[in-house]
Amino acid sequence: MSLHTRNLFLTFIITFLSAFSPVLEAEEYPLPLGVPKPIVPSDNPITPEKVALGRKLYFDKRLSANDTVSCATCHDPQKGFADAGPVSTGINGQKGTRSAPTSLDAANYDLQFWDGRALTLEEQAKSPIINPVEMGMPSHDAVVEKLKGIQEYREDFQKVFGGEITIDNIAKAIASFERTLLSGNSPFDRYTYGGDKNALSDQAKKGLEIFNGKGRCITCHEFVSSYALFTDNKFHNLGVGMDKPNPDMGRYDVTKEDKDKGAFKTPTLRNIALTAPYMHDGSEPTLEAAVEFYDKGGNPNPYLSGEMRPLNLTKEEKQALVEFLKSLTSSNIDQLIKPTT
Ligand code: HEC
Ligand code: HEC
Repeated sequence: MSLHTRNLFLTFIITFLSAFSPVLEAEEYPLPLGVPKPIVPSDNPITPEKVALGRKLYFDKRLSANDTVSCATCHDPQKGFADAGPVSTGINGQKGTRSAPTSLDAANYDLQFWDGRALTLEEQAKSPIINPVEMGMPSHDAVVEKLKGIQEYREDFQKVFGGEITIDNIAKAIASFERTLLSGNSPFDRYTYGGDKNALSDQAKKGLEIFNGKGRCITCHEFVSSYALFTDNKFHNLGVGMDKPNPDMGRYDVTKEDKDKGAFKTPTLRNIALTAPYMHDGSEPTLEAAVEFYDKGGNPNPYLSGEMRPLNLTKEEKQALVEFLKSLTSSNIDQLIKPTT
C-alpha cells in the first residue's frame, strides 16, 4: 500500500476506533517517537485484556507439542525479540533454514515473513505452532484442545472473545500483543523527529549522511518526514546465499515470478545492533561485515537488484555508517518487556 493510502487508511482506522470503544487509550498504547500507529484490522480491535492474553500465549511453551518452545524462544525479549543464531532452533533441537526476525515493529510491515507469504500478523501467528521444526503441534485443532484443558485459558477467552477457544482467536490475541511491540525513541528518532540536535554523535551524523547519500541505503530502508519504518515493504535480491548450491529462492517461492528469485523483504533496521547475525540466513556476523557486503555491491547473480553496486566507501565512511546503525536502538524496549498484568 502506498504511503498516501496508508495515511488515509490510518486516519480512517483511528476515527473508526475512537468511535467504537473499548480500545486502548493513548497512555495504554503509547506511540514512541518516530513510529506510526500500525493498521489494526477492523475485525480485531485492540483491547487491554486481549493484549494481556496475547502476551500470555506468546510466552507459553504449552503452545508447542512437548512444552519446550514458545514464540519467545525464538523471539526473545532479551535478544531484541529475535534469537542469536544464524537460523532458529525449534522443537527437539531442530534447525530451521532462516534467521528469526525481531517481533518489534513487525506490526508495521505490509506482509509477514522474509518472503512475505503471510498477509497479516493473525495469519502469521498460526504457522509456527504447526511447523514441525518450530513448535511441532500436529494440527490447529490439537492446540485448541490442549488450551481448552486449561481452566485459566477457558476463562480468559470467554472474557476477551465471549466464547470458546478457537485458533482464530488465539491468533487474534497474539497479533494484538504484537501490535503493542512498537519500539522507537532511539537517538536517531530524537535527532530527526524530536529536534534534539545533540542526540547523535558527529560520527553517527556522518553515517546518516552516507545512509541517505553515497551508501543509498535509504532507497530500500526508507524513512519519511514524520516516521521511520526503515523498510520499503518490498523484496530485493542482494545475492545473499545465492553463491550456495541450492539457494533459498525467497519471494519467488510465493509468486513464481523470475524477477523475485532470491529476493527477500527489506527488514527494518530498528534495534539492528541487538539482533546479530544478519540477513535471512544469518550469513553476516556483524554490522561491519554487513556494511562490507554492501560496499562490494552484494553477491553477483543473474537476479541481482539494479540498486546494488560497489559503493567505494572509505574506512571512515564505513565506520560512520556502523555508528549510525547503532543509533537505531530504541529506549523503550525495557518497558515492552515488563509484564503489564
Ligand atoms: C523455532 C523458532 C521460532 C518460533 C518458535 C517462532 N518463530 Fe516467529 N519466526 C521464526 C523465523 C525463523 C522466522 C522467519 C521465517 C521466514 O521468514 O520464513 C519467523 C518469522 C516471524 C514473524 C515475521 C516477522 C517479519 O519480519 O516478517 C513474526 C511476526 C513471528 N515470527 C512471530 C512469531 C509468533 C507470534 C510465534 C509464536 C506463535 C513465533 N513467531 C514462533 C522463528 C520462530
Ligand atoms: C536494494 C535494496 C536495499 C538497499 C539499497 C540496502 N538494503 Fe539493506 N537490506 C535489504 C534487504 C532486501 C535485506 C535482506 C536481504 C536478505 O537477507 O536476503 C537487507 C538487509 C540488511 C541488513 C540486515 C538486517 C537483518 O535484520 O538481518 C542490514 C544491517 C542492512 N540491510 C543495512 C543496509 C545498509 C547499511 C545499506 C546501505 C549501505 C543497505 N542496507 C542498503 C535491502 C536493501
